[in-house]
Amino acid sequence: MNILFVSSECYPLIKTGGLADVVGALPLAFDPSITNTTVFLPGFPDVLKNIKNTQKIAEFTDLAGGKSSLVKGTSSTGLNVIVMIAPHLFDLEGNPYVDMQGHDRAGNHIRYAAFSKAASDLSIGKLADLYTFDCVHAHDWQAGLTFAYLEAENLPKGPKRILTIHNLAFQGLFPKEIFAQLRLPSSMFSSNQLEYWGQVSYLKAGVVFSDHVTTVSPTYAAEIKTEELGMGFGGLLNAIKDRVSGITNGIDQGIWDPESDPQITASYSAQSLAGKALCKKALQEKMGLTRSVKKPLFCVISRLTTQKGLDLVLKAIPHLLKNGAQIAILGSGDHDLEHRYLEAADKYKGSVSTYIGYNEVLAHQVQAGADFILIPSRFEPCGLTQLCAMRYGTIPVVTRVGGLNDTVIDCNESALKLGLGTGIHLNDVTENALIESLDRSLGLFHSKKLTNKIRKNGMKQDLSWKSPAQAYNDLYSL
Ligand code: ADP
Ligand code: GLC
Repeated sequence: MNILFVSSECYPLIKTGGLADVVGALPLAFDPSITNTTVFLPGFPDVLKNIKNTQKIAEFTDLAGGKSSLVKGTSSTGLNVIVMIAPHLFDLEGNPYVDMQGHDRAGNHIRYAAFSKAASDLSIGKLADLYTFDCVHAHDWQAGLTFAYLEAENLPKGPKRILTIHNLAFQGLFPKEIFAQLRLPSSMFSSNQLEYWGQVSYLKAGVVFSDHVTTVSPTYAAEIKTEELGMGFGGLLNAIKDRVSGITNGIDQGIWDPESDPQITASYSAQSLAGKALCKKALQEKMGLTRSVKKPLFCVISRLTTQKGLDLVLKAIPHLLKNGAQIAILGSGDHDLEHRYLEAADKYKGSVSTYIGYNEVLAHQVQAGADFILIPSRFEPCGLTQLCAMRYGTIPVVTRVGGLNDTVIDCNESALKLGLGTGIHLNDVTENALIESLDRSLGLFHSKKLTNKIRKNGMKQDLSWKSPAQAYNDLYSL
């Protein structure tokens, strides 16, 4: 089976969040003699810099009327990729969706429409006839129009269409005036197809024209079928509920492995945790925190947005410090939150440290050095940082939503008796609930035996892509 992934991100070529991790790792989890995947990506500068063994396979005029070409190549991790080279669309430094001020980039509508049109044409051999695909697996709104273009081909039997929603908050909404530029049949601008409250939604195109919609955890799959949590898509997703399912993400256990991670100070494992204390000291030193293994060290590694509940963490900082704890923050995003975390670091030198920016190496070092990671998300399709944390023996403190609910087991007495507890659940998404969970964490930290038991429960789990890859494979072959 030949599968074409269509995505705007893919680790290690271009990444702003978990989407890249998933698209970079899932293809490598398949047996290539059965499920052969190619990832189709926009030619952003970072992608072009990092792709190897390139070979041009097509030249064409794209939807925006510009000259484009397709090159195939490989990533350093061994992924097969095809990249759309179109400098007039993709020559963007930095974040591919928003500018330095955090505003949506001008031209996003035509950028991702042209990308999706090329994906559709590529999948059916219209751009390079040696390349055709049995199944197109599109990710998020940026790839959503691919299925509208495939639908417009009116083929007797085209490739199977799977859409994965990584985050329903991003719906690819544009004013209706842009519809003409998409060159789709005008009948598609209707409320049961692309029209969404007077606008055009690229994600809705992906949903209505797919054979199956997946999202990245069963709890999130259930949440988004409701009016309450469906962010305007609840009715639509509920109407096709038998075709909407959740498959929990894995992580690349080769990249996230405290036993062999070259980026951390000392290696360690569930059998021998001694190295984790050395990683903690190294992290405290690196981030300007007082060096002491006795102080509980909390961390955040995240996009700084309200989705992630990080406004609540800011409010809880004085409570943490009053109890002798420290906190290290690695993140970027909302400018106001960035500013407030920098202010906190300035105010509480030695106890709060903030690194604003994206830093992959530091993410590994923080995971290895911290005792707890805070993820009080308001909603969370899956979340990957809690998975990485458990792998590194760092205890996740999480809200009971989406994938956090599915992957972290609260370490209450009965769970512990069964050898199951891996983290701490908040009872609600409020400051009080966060403080309560912090008190539980602090209490736990004073019992080294219990803390280590929970660390080990987390570390011993299989968090790999093996079982999710099987679930995707089953869908492709249906
Ligand atoms: P989301 O995709 O919603 O941002 P996830 O938890 O699914 O959240 O994935 C986030 C990914 O991005 C993880 O791999 C995490 O380690 C990484 N990450 C987030 N912020 C940073 C940062 N500032 N520096 C390095 N890595 C980061
Ligand atoms: C999104 C979600 C996150 C998920 C990731 C990968 O960015 O916010 O919860 O883990 O996609 O699927």
